Amino acid sequence: MGNPVYLALDVPQLDAAKALAEKVKAHVGGFKLGLEFFCAHGHHGVHEIAHVGLPIFLDLKFHDIPNTVAGAMQAIHMLEPAIVTVHGSGGRAMMEDAKAAAANGTKVVAVTMLTSLDERDLMRTGVEGSAHDQVMRLAELAQAAGLDGIVCSGHEVRAVHKQWKDGFFVVPGLRMNGNHGDQKRVVTPRQARDDGASVLVVGRPISRAEDPVEAARAIEATL
Ligand code: C5P
Repeated sequence: MGNPVYLALDVPQLDAAKALAEKVKAHVGGFKLGLEFFCAHGHHGVHEIAHVGLPIFLDLKFHDIPNTVAGAMQAIHMLEPAIVTVHGSGGRAMMEDAKAAAANGTKVVAVTMLTSLDERDLMRTGVEGSAHDQVMRLAELAQAAGLDGIVCSGHEVRAVHKQWKDGFFVVPGLRMNGNHGDQKRVVTPRQARDDGASVLVVGRPISRAEDPVEAARAIEATL
């Protein structure tokens, strides 16, 4: 099994993103490029990072009518992404068409709930119940739609994995120290892996480290 860590290249400058990718490539399994990167650097930027030689995760979080999402998915075929995200709340038909339009080697995973939303925010959008229930509901819908898996937090991956044994689970928001200075409980890469994560998304703990190579190596050593 390869290294499950995908480094989030949330770096505005393409040169800096590429330099960081080159630096840590021996200690991560792939690179995650988000909406910000894609809007700023487009296909050219993705090609530049792909030249580093590791799989690319395009975190574009598609959410539109099925026909439009399918068209967007087709428009990124030539980038050969290993993973692409769509919003689970876009509905079953949107997810089905996204998967049908994706290239063969591309895993399509559903974003369940943005961690920037709390239960009050959810309620204001008309969603009743707990955030956890919403994640489980969208996981079920993504599975029924034929997607490969979902994005979820380290706190949820265990429960989702139990319900969806062969799912592909992408887990962001990881920190090396279980105790993060304040009372907030954070999940370590190792914990998430043990709980069933397929891909571990790590950004700032590597990109903002004094020594990114050492930080990536330290995470790799725990897995
Ligand atoms: O926090 P960190 O820099 O490690 O985040 C890595 C990536 O994961 C970022 O691109 C961020 O947008 C995403 N993320 C997320 N959900 C979280 C935390 C981070 O999707 N709870």
